[in-house]
Amino acid sequence: MSLRLQIIIGSTRPGRFADKPVAWLVDRLSDRDDFELDVLDLRDHPLPLFDSPTSPARSLREYPNEAVAALGKRFDSADGYIALTSEYNHGYPASLKNAMDYVFPEFKRKPMAFVGYGNVGGARAIEQLRLVTIEFEMAPLRHAVHILGSVMLPAMTAEEFSPSLFESLDERLEMLIKDLVWWATALKIARDAG
Ligand SMILES: Cc1cc2nc3c(=O)[nH]c(=O)nc-3n(C[C@H](O)[C@H](O)[C@H](O)COP(=O)(O)O)c2cc1C
Repeated sequence: MSLRLQIIIGSTRPGRFADKPVAWLVDRLSDRDDFELDVLDLRDHPLPLFDSPTSPARSLREYPNEAVAALGKRFDSADGYIALTSEYNHGYPASLKNAMDYVFPEFKRKPMAFVGYGNVGGARAIEQLRLVTIEFEMAPLRHAVHILGSVMLPAMTAEEFSPSLFESLDERLEMLIKDLVWWATALKIARDAG
């Protein structure tokens, strides 16, 4: 069975830290034979503050314009997600919520795992995101990678960046991936069965 996992980069601001953990995730996950990796950068899908004339939970893929359709189709193409989230004022970024609000059935019955960063490894942002995923009828996963200051600061300030600056988190990432692949496989079989 071919499985497609998608990293969603939540932060869109210039100079974001997000690019560093993404480089690590891509380094570790792009060459696997158990899934194909897609990296969805929300910068590539700039959308206004939510302005859909109908609720995407009702209009179900009847996209109001091409830009929303492009995002919806991209989300639709994945069997499972890794939300890469920063933490702004104890929450996840508004850019991520705005993008999620534009869709609905695209996420249904699919798992989402989390990689967060910040003073407490994005834990508060991730907890909030887990609540949001339930409304989408997703399966929010327990395993997460929390990138704390002890890893974040050296990665931020390194003269020469390397994905190996995150290697202390490799084991956690492997646990996350094993679990995500299990759920993505199980739910894909169930979705395909109707
Ligand atoms: C508006 C704002 C609010 C922040 N609030 C928090 C916070 O509540 N907790 C935290 O750990 N870090 C917080 N930070 C620091 C971020 O973890 C840090 O800036 C990080 O680089 C943001 O991710 P990004 O660069 O990928 O956008 C905040 C940063 C900004 C810009």
